[in-house]
Amino acid sequence: MSRSQTTQKAAIRHFLDLKECSSADLRTILDLGARVKAMQEGRRHPLHPEQPLAGRTLGLIMAQPSTRTRVSFEVGMTQLGGAVTVLSPSDMQLGRGETIADTARVLSRFLDIIVLRTGHDANLRELATWSSVPVINGLTPVSHPIQILADVLTFEEHRGPITGRTLAWVGDGNNVATSLIEAAALLGFSLRLATPEGFEPSHHAVKWAREHGATIITTQDPLEAVKGADAVITDTWVSMGDTDADRRHRLFRPYQVNDALMEHASKDALFMHCLPAHIGEEVSKDVFEGPHSVVFDEAENRLHSQKGLLLWCLGKD
Ligand code: CP
Ligand code: NVA
Repeated sequence: MSRSQTTQKAAIRHFLDLKECSSADLRTILDLGARVKAMQEGRRHPLHPEQPLAGRTLGLIMAQPSTRTRVSFEVGMTQLGGAVTVLSPSDMQLGRGETIADTARVLSRFLDIIVLRTGHDANLRELATWSSVPVINGLTPVSHPIQILADVLTFEEHRGPITGRTLAWVGDGNNVATSLIEAAALLGFSLRLATPEGFEPSHHAVKWAREHGATIITTQDPLEAVKGADAVITDTWVSMGDTDADRRHRLFRPYQVNDALMEHASKDALFMHCLPAHIGEEVSKDVFEGPHSVVFDEAENRLHSQKGLLLWCLGKD
């Protein structure tokens, strides 16, 4: 790569992992999301009156299944006045061996911004290295930062500023957990994570967050994690790409979020889940459908928070 290409790349607003984002940028993205949401309250399919992304095109490359991520980006980009093309690697020359580097350089000539969901974190990094337009992480096995934008927006809508609050994660120390850990450092909330032995959250993420001032407690005891927490969060026991489902179901059984566990959280604790959920596994029906649950607000906020992200990535903040 030439020096001028490197210099030019420094200005690109990729969104690959929260730890590569500043607290100020994260707050800007969240505020933009809240603002565009407020503008459309009460209208069903509102177009942003100023069409700030008119003439811009988003490429959505989905190498794995998705409901929320795909639809929220498609709808969000459209509402902001832009266009979207959805791509599956199996329909692209990528599926026949064209390199990510070449794909990135070609797509950068057509598109203004790219979202990639991939089963290989290295593919996301490679795409961002060669792309001359912003690249957004649409989920990898390592992290899911866009999910946390929606989670924070949802928490703050229901309970006010997240800074200084305590959240609990129960279950698998997976990609969503990693991004939540990074958010704890950027936004100043405490996080307790209860995971079975062998499924602990990323050591690197915990270390990084602690070095950046976050209080992160890891334990194998769900009660310890949940005690007095302002929100209890879980996710599937078997993520995309996991091949040891039987073992996981056995080991995760004591980590189900149910009424008995929620009783140990704060009286008005929120229950959150990125979805899709598996009722009777990581969460009981009573909790999922009960008064603590804000999972569908959380799903809706994927749309609003990602509109904030699209605006930020394209310099419309
Ligand atoms: N939570 C989430 O990312 O959902 P999808 O897999 O449906 O996109
Ligand atoms: N941890 C889950 C999240 C799905 C949105 C997975 O990676 O499959």
